[in-house]
Amino acid sequence: MKIKYVDLIEQTFHFPQEEFQVSDEELTFHGVPLMDLVREYGTPLKFTYLPKISENIQKAKGWFASAMKKVDYKGTYNYCYCTKSSHFSHVVEQALKNDISIETSSAYDLDIVEHLFESGKLNKNRYVLCNGYKTDDYLERIAHLINLGYKMLPVIDNYQEVDVLNALIDQPFEIGIRIASEEEPKFEFYTSRLGIGYRNIAPFYRDVIQNHPKIRLKMLHFFINTGINDNAYYWNEFNKCLTVYGRLKEVCDSLDSLNIGGGFPIKNSLAFEYDYAYMVDEIIAQTKNFAEEAGIDDPHIYTEFGSFTVGESGGALFKVIYQKRQNDKERWNMIDSSFMTTLPDSWAINKRFIMLPINRWNSDYERVFLGGLTCDSDDYYSGLQHCLIPGPKQIVIDRDEEGKLTYRVTTKRIRSTSGFSIPVPIRIPWVATVACNTASFPVPSKL
Ligand SMILES: Cc1ncc(COP(=O)(O)O)c(C=O)c1O
Repeated sequence: MKIKYVDLIEQTFHFPQEEFQVSDEELTFHGVPLMDLVREYGTPLKFTYLPKISENIQKAKGWFASAMKKVDYKGTYNYCYCTKSSHFSHVVEQALKNDISIETSSAYDLDIVEHLFESGKLNKNRYVLCNGYKTDDYLERIAHLINLGYKMLPVIDNYQEVDVLNALIDQPFEIGIRIASEEEPKFEFYTSRLGIGYRNIAPFYRDVIQNHPKIRLKMLHFFINTGINDNAYYWNEFNKCLTVYGRLKEVCDSLDSLNIGGGFPIKNSLAFEYDYAYMVDEIIAQTKNFAEEAGIDDPHIYTEFGSFTVGESGGALFKVIYQKRQNDKERWNMIDSSFMTTLPDSWAINKRFIMLPINRWNSDYERVFLGGLTCDSDDYYSGLQHCLIPGPKQIVIDRDEEGKLTYRVTTKRIRSTSGFSIPVPIRIPWVATVACNTASFPVPSKL
């Protein structure tokens, strides 16, 4: 007996979910009727649902507040959004509505920061963290803003940055130092190219910063590439970082902040499970214990969540335009766009996205491959940035004061690497699937 697509999903996952519901056989995302979007704007298109950005920031703030309360933590929590995750003005400005700060990684970001300061959208009393390897123009822009009196905190990635900043800045200023973490054992390099090695940080501080007439060390920063995970590798790196913090603190009174970087995962499958509150509880409890044992103040905690801020707020909508049967087993549902153009991370770094049909949830299902339009043989899901076709239209969705949905078309695109992908069948109505680790997917059948 054939079963309907909706049954397949309901039997495989807990469904409906917080963001995904089905109404009259059509998918809604946070209450946004996606077929209406398609009818109004056509496909392919990408959309951003702004309220989700604020929701995630508030959730993180809540987890840290609760974890800190449990252990009577005396330091503060500071949420920073790293602009490299999406430079779109609607994304950055939405994030900033939540009393947060910014982390930058290039001179280009500092144009954004200056503009946000001038327009009053970025709180001048919060530190802007300047991370990353610093080119001359990046250092000049940081120095310029410090000279204007803004609270920029350059996080030193490389020794020579200190000398350049010192020459350019005409007043006392603060810095952070990034620890070069050790990469996961299976990675092809041993130590991250970013930051300064564990063993070199204390000597660097002693030789260069400790007696410097203008510079004070405020922050220690580390970022684990593979994200914040409850595994031995993460906790080992985390504890090494705490140890360096403790050692520096013995000789450095001004050090009062620990920046644990980004790395919260995002939902990339309907079966996604991650206990954010537990991880935050552990981070805070371990930091508190460490500080107590070392007899030092609880450090102020900074985070730089990128994907977590923006990655669950968007999606891409495609139409399935045709089904090609290449042999008995391989059926290709061709979409009206390119995975290379719209979901480059799926090819380049093997990222998974949730894929669901928008309509025909009561139809039977079948397994297919999803094919992109370009002539590049890699343009399938899971697929990639070779033969490109123009990117899709962008729609910004928000809710007004009464909770009513509002829509705005924007073409101001800079870069967005994360998001849900939701193929939309219309004229040939069906298709798509949930992200999983196989190359073929179940979809509603019968073309
Ligand atoms: C220094 C730093 N902070 C924050 C982030 C953001 O990480 P995520 O998107 O995993 O939160 C990155 C990502 O590369 C990073 O390099």
